[in-house]
Amino acid sequence: MKKNITALILGILTILPVRAETVLSPGGKVCVEAGVDANGTPVYSMRFEGKEVIRPSRLGFELGTGAPLLDGFTIHSVENRSFDETWTPVWGEEKQIRNHYNEMLVCFEQKGSARKMNVRFRAFDDGLGFRYEFPLQESLAHFTIREERTEFALTGDHTAWWIPADYDTQEYNYTCSRLSQIGSLSAAAIDANVSQTSCSPTAVQTALQLKTDDGLYINLHEAALVDYPCINLDWDAASLTFKSVLTPEMTADKAVMFAPRSTPWRTVIVGKSGADILASRITLNLNDPCALDETSWIKPVKYIGVWWEMIVGKSEWSYSHYPSIILGQTDYAQLKPHGRHGATTEHVREYIDFAAENGFDQVLVEGWNIGWENWFGCWKEDVFDFVTPYPDFDLKGLNDYAHSKGVRLMMHHESSAAIRNYERHMEAAYNLMNEYGYNAVKSGYVGDILPRGMHHYSQWAVNHYLYAVKQAAKHKIMVNAHEAVRPTGLCRTYPNLIGNEAARGTEYHHQGKDGIRHFHTCILPFTRLIGGPMDYTPGIFEMDLSKTNPNNHGKAEFTICNQLALYVTMYSPLQMAADIIEHYRRFPDAFQFIKDVAVDWEKSLYLEAEPGDYLTIARQAKGSSDWFVGSISGLSDRTVKLSFDFLEKGKKYIATVYADAKDANCVTNPQAYTITRYIVTNKSKLSQKIVESGGMAISIREMVPGENTKGLKKL
Ligand code: NOJ
Ligand code: CA
Repeated sequence: MKKNITALILGILTILPVRAETVLSPGGKVCVEAGVDANGTPVYSMRFEGKEVIRPSRLGFELGTGAPLLDGFTIHSVENRSFDETWTPVWGEEKQIRNHYNEMLVCFEQKGSARKMNVRFRAFDDGLGFRYEFPLQESLAHFTIREERTEFALTGDHTAWWIPADYDTQEYNYTCSRLSQIGSLSAAAIDANVSQTSCSPTAVQTALQLKTDDGLYINLHEAALVDYPCINLDWDAASLTFKSVLTPEMTADKAVMFAPRSTPWRTVIVGKSGADILASRITLNLNDPCALDETSWIKPVKYIGVWWEMIVGKSEWSYSHYPSIILGQTDYAQLKPHGRHGATTEHVREYIDFAAENGFDQVLVEGWNIGWENWFGCWKEDVFDFVTPYPDFDLKGLNDYAHSKGVRLMMHHESSAAIRNYERHMEAAYNLMNEYGYNAVKSGYVGDILPRGMHHYSQWAVNHYLYAVKQAAKHKIMVNAHEAVRPTGLCRTYPNLIGNEAARGTEYHHQGKDGIRHFHTCILPFTRLIGGPMDYTPGIFEMDLSKTNPNNHGKAEFTICNQLALYVTMYSPLQMAADIIEHYRRFPDAFQFIKDVAVDWEKSLYLEAEPGDYLTIARQAKGSSDWFVGSISGLSDRTVKLSFDFLEKGKKYIATVYADAKDANCVTNPQAYTITRYIVTNKSKLSQKIVESGGMAISIREMVPGENTKGLKKL
């Protein structure tokens, strides 16, 4: 132990900067220092309200060829500037966003080589963003990065909410532990029985949520991940330091750079409460403004779909069990169907009717196109063409029918991670969407990447995901990509990137009890959602999976009101009602909340938020006086104490409260709920019990003059 402490002290002493430049955030809360240490290594540190958050930490790179950019630097020059703008997102958690920071550009120059490496620091009152910039220079015109050597030296063994680093999946359950436990817990404890590819056992993914023993909340992530590999953080317990590990390519070098170039931003969001982390807009603000000239075609979407039934195993994506389909040659009309195909014309018509009756914008149909017989796991490059429907799916007829009812179909492109194949067919696939009037696509990257050996979050794959979004914009198509790299706020620049999955979503409930841990949705807003909205696909009303598919004996563990609240707590401009029609028909009064809830917001208030424990969020619908509240609980029952003081003074509202019934239980009685209507004003207060993995959802609308409110309780 003594040895460790001495090593730590010696380590700290060598990293202390010999010359330091300082930038303070506009309100003075965040202070960032940058300089070089005794070896000429660039270093930075950060304080929040005087408290150390990041101790002096090293910056730099190991290159593919040539001397590393790790030491021998001096500060050549420093530039400072202040910036303050308020911008209007096309859609979002609030109508307007303030982007206010002080900036310091530190230009480092390496003695001898004269190579320049600049680091731009932006100090916000709620955190820090910094990135490396390589100006155009002869000695570093194009180069490869073997590893980025960015460090985050922390001040203690904080509590962390984390998932293991993995170059190919983000679909893990979270673990809450001390930092020192990362790497020492069993695979079962951290739910790492999914293929964990080759990263160090002590490495984690970002966004990573931390809490210090004295109550500081810290979030580490990245912003504007463009043309660069996705970052992971490897914990070095001896020095209490996270060290960056980039996602590799097939060669030893992880990134190819052509100056002038910059890296993505590295972010450290800080606050005194969980709510401060959720209210931060640093990730969006560090992205470039909207790159699209015209955005009126981008609209938030509420949708249903032929989906959950395949996930639970009631029906199948494929049409036949024919072992090998050859695109353009196999004659489907000659194949014997297995009779369990979900996306049939007749069935999709039922969904269109249901969407029209209940005010949904779109119907997602998965399994409409040929190729599913050979999708992931077959290493098949020419797996889908994205334009040929199965013989029992009437592409034109169904689109015409949907449009006649004021509904659109949502396109589905499962690429099966055959990225080259997807790019080859992309233009034709988007043209087909334009021809039939689809304006949104859910894409997917299930399975191992083809070309073989590539990783989902490498520079090459990251470039593909953005290419798909940019090409889609040319066709006025919105993209919701599943299994793509975790978002980093790029939806500010490309607001047609309307959704991403990039985490463990509702689909894992098909595994029953162990699919999703009870506290999962109380963690996601602090981790996955820091980068942008998630297509979590909530709204499952039937937890006994045998009622969807008699052969599935699993039981998902949450209450109906938990599912309702997720429409507010899991921010997304794209929200699905994921269950099958029959189950919504059984609970029409609870379903009403899903029909009513908004998907675009004027304002969002994070009333209480503790990672893994609970969340209560109130949001005002954009351009309306309606409000919606969602409250969820993680691992224990709790009483929510809600003040309606966010409502406009002097006005009366009707609040419809959907809450777990007294005897509700996420395992034994998950469908027990109460619906109570109250008259409320901004002085009203509500005390409501919710259960473990349970919740409460409230819709609030202004009272209409002369409205009959007989029998309604005043709160
Ligand atoms: C995984 C996606 O997350 C899921 O939503 C989809 O149904 C399947 N892939 C098939 O594309
Ligand atoms: Ca998925």
